Amino acid sequence: KPSHVVLSPNLTTCHPSFSDGNKPVYCCPPKRESAEPFIDFQFPDPSTQPIRVRRPAHVMDKDKDFVAKYNKAIAIMKSLPHDDPRSFMRQADIHCIFSTGAYNQQHSNSLMKIHRSWMFFPWHRMMIYFHERILGSLIGDDTFALPFWNWDSPVGMHVPDMFLNGSFVDTERDSSHLPPQVVDVNFDELESGLGYEEQKAYNVGFMYTQMISAAKKPELFMGCPYKAGADGYCNAPGTVEDAPHNTLHYWMGSNLNPERENMGAFYSAARDPIFYSHHSNIDRLWEVWRELRSTNNVPEDADWLDTHFFFHNEKSQLIRVKISDVLDITKLRYTFDWVENPWINARP
Ligand code: C2O
Repeated sequence: KPSHVVLSPNLTTCHPSFSDGNKPVYCCPPKRESAEPFIDFQFPDPSTQPIRVRRPAHVMDKDKDFVAKYNKAIAIMKSLPHDDPRSFMRQADIHCIFSTGAYNQQHSNSLMKIHRSWMFFPWHRMMIYFHERILGSLIGDDTFALPFWNWDSPVGMHVPDMFLNGSFVDTERDSSHLPPQVVDVNFDELESGLGYEEQKAYNVGFMYTQMISAAKKPELFMGCPYKAGADGYCNAPGTVEDAPHNTLHYWMGSNLNPERENMGAFYSAARDPIFYSHHSNIDRLWEVWRELRSTNNVPEDADWLDTHFFFHNEKSQLIRVKISDVLDITKLRYTFDWVENPWINARP
């Protein structure tokens, strides 16, 4: 047991909370998770678990078998009852809980929130890791891997086609941003007015800024050090969390809803299946940034490394997982298909 107080949720405290726009929300699980025993995270066994290869969504769009499989997995997940922690709504609720501060911290009455700090990358990695494994288990495929929405590359700068059909559909999206519209990675409520090619060029230059020139120190890329306790919340997101992450959430959500729900508000964002491909790309860019730096690329801070969260796995078991558990994706048995990162040489 760590001797210092680390930042972690108290599962007995789930309570009503507020969206970023101050709307009352309630995303707690139907039964108190505290009554449930938890087990500590263990790495998947490399002798029985294949490596899952996450590929670009715009490429997977052409693989009919893959799209059919993924569509079926989401449909099953959406059909599970709400008291099943693997159900789609419960997955979305977990994101709501940790966005709106529905849990308190352990040993403190302060709310637990995982955006706008160095908790952003590891928490979302954990969330989609379990989501991916649950989807795979629902269709009996232990090679199933979440595609990534490759919005940082001109070839992927549109909503991937798979998200327009079947169980991938979310009606709460900005319809003027559906294909062939090109993403605006720095969207700020106003349409940029750029033509498709100009917008792509702008996006590539912006990626260079967020991944390289404005992210030269770990704190700048990772976000500020959020620590346990009442004054621990720091509220300064890393470059990529701020944009394209937040901006594309906002760009995707419906312009007709007050907080651009679903994707535009964190309490509702994970109700849109595209959320998971968005975060698969965020997770990839974290890996790319670490590779570009090679050394001094993770915070060497015991408070961060020992921070733990709880997620249900594909067997509906409650798992306690520490940030230090999720820093080597090979041990987690997944990888990303190699793609070109055209912004690397795009110094504006
Ligand atoms: Cu927790 Cu993309 O947000």
